Amino acid sequence: MTGSLRYDPIAVTLHWLIALLIIGMLALGFLMEDFPGSIRPLAYTLHKSTGITILALSLFRLVWRLLNPPPALPAAMPRHLKLAAKATHWLFYVLILAMPLSGWLMVSASQKYPTVFFWIGEVPFIPMPTGIDGKATAHMFGDYHLWFAYSTLLLLALHLGAALKHHFVDRDTVLTRMLPRWVQR
Ligand code: HEM
Ligand code: HEM
Repeated sequence: MTGSLRYDPIAVTLHWLIALLIIGMLALGFLMEDFPGSIRPLAYTLHKSTGITILALSLFRLVWRLLNPPPALPAAMPRHLKLAAKATHWLFYVLILAMPLSGWLMVSASQKYPTVFFWIGEVPFIPMPTGIDGKATAHMFGDYHLWFAYSTLLLLALHLGAALKHHFVDRDTVLTRMLPRWVQR
């Protein structure tokens, strides 16, 4: 059976778009609390709107991935590394959904400020069970949000290290097959 040798253009575009957005959002998330009061609301609106966009893109990406299997990993790769690569990738899919979802759940439990999607319109709050303590629940989802952010950073370090090792040590095509064709040329 001859599978494809590279990721398809949609998978490549979604990979790099979501990677850039997530890296920007991690930086903005950690910094925005310390922004001066005059630009803080703008930063939060951008953070929440971009986060909702990432959630939609990630859902689409997951469906795309399930319908379009990726190219096989190099045959020379040991079994345990293949398993590690697969586990990392699936954990990333969980995190790119859990990260924005926990943020949305946090603001929905708190209901302190509305979420306005890029000044277009209000994003509804996710309904919460009646009788819950909104503040404590928001705090709990805030904790999840923070731990998901740390987990994403950790996974990103592993993922980046692996990509560079494939390219410069193993000298295989694992990195280049995820690059857009115009970069490869
Ligand atoms: C991939 C998407 C997202 C990433 C990577 C991300 C990342 C972060 C990070 C690193 C922080 C600072 C750490 C923390 O206080 O927890 C943060 C804070 C925050 N995020 Fe997100 N976030 C995302 C999506 C969202 C979404 C969709 C919402 C809401 C709709 C949201 C709402 C917030 C709020 C309100 C805070 C401030 C929490 C506080 O001050 O206690 N985030 N985010
Ligand atoms: C937060 C940012 C990132 C996320 C969420 C992410 C996520 C993912 C996921 C889920 C896959 C698996 C694709 C699939 O098989 O469906 C993947 C593959 C890949 N990623 Fe990332 N990635 C990120 C950043 C990066 C960076 C910075 C590099 C830099 C070199 C990179 C290089 C690659 C490569 C080369 C592959 C293909 C691996 C293979 O062929 O099996 N990624 N990434």
